[in-house]
Amino acid sequence: MDRDREAGRRTCELIAADGEKSLLEVADVSDAESCRKAVAAATTAYGSVDVLVNNAAVTSFMPASDMAEEEWSRVIGINLKGAMFMSKWALKAMMGQAHGGAIVNIASGAGLRSFASPAYAASKTGILGLTADLAGTYGRHGVRVNAVVPGMLNTPMARRIDASERGRKLRSAASPLGTEGTGWDVAWAVLFLAGDEARWITGAVLPVDAGMLVAAPLPTLPFMRDAE
Ligand SMILES: NC(=O)c1ccc[n+]([C@@H]2O[C@H](COP(=O)([O-])OP(=O)(O)OC[C@H]3O[C@@H](n4cnc5c(N)ncnc54)[C@H](O)[C@@H]3O)[C@@H](O)[C@H]2O)c1
Repeated sequence: MDRDREAGRRTCELIAADGEKSLLEVADVSDAESCRKAVAAATTAYGSVDVLVNNAAVTSFMPASDMAEEEWSRVIGINLKGAMFMSKWALKAMMGQAHGGAIVNIASGAGLRSFASPAYAASKTGILGLTADLAGTYGRHGVRVNAVVPGMLNTPMARRIDASERGRKLRSAASPLGTEGTGWDVAWAVLFLAGDEARWITGAVLPVDAGMLVAAPLPTLPFMRDAE
């Protein structure tokens, strides 16, 4: 599901190149009715809903002291309301299945550390609250709910913020591993949490961030200077 048809089509091409089937639903996750339709389309096409990954999100750097109501609603609407209503319909499907299901929510380091993005931060911390709540409530229904907390990745979202070579070097230097992450780094973690090998894991919050969350500013400083 993507509101950007072209982005969705590219993902479908990658899936086809891997010899697998896919179904693209072009819709906006902030619209609760679109969430219902997307889950219904998946159920009709595949007969069950085994995995939901709440990944769609937008960033926002509007400062809290200038926050516009529309901007707050836009970001919370996509990042948090979207995850809630996709989960609502996926849960209904998963609860009725003997094999249950798995939900993986994509949070962000910006939900736990300040990146001067208050609406985004609140939406991502909200994602962690939702993860814990759903994990606690739906475990007995065979549904596991976990979260991945990505660090700074090289994706279109990051490139829209700063695509410069300097920006990429600084983002890499800010973490203990000193390298840049990609969407694939997050995807491998999601694959694990969604699969049967994680059958005894629910309510977990897994950082995939090259160690960004544990890094104190002072030891990182020399690496940041070198990257400049
Ligand atoms: N890029 C990073 O450094 C980074 C860091 C931490 C967390 N994350 C999280 O990882 C996830 C993926 O981010 P990304 O970097 O790939 O972003 P991206 O902007 O490259 O991709 C996001 C996708 O979501 C889609 N989308 C946006 N709004 C939508 C809506 N209302 N309805 C349906 N689809 C919508 C976009 O069209 C796009 O294809 C997001 O949850 C993001 O918050 C990213």
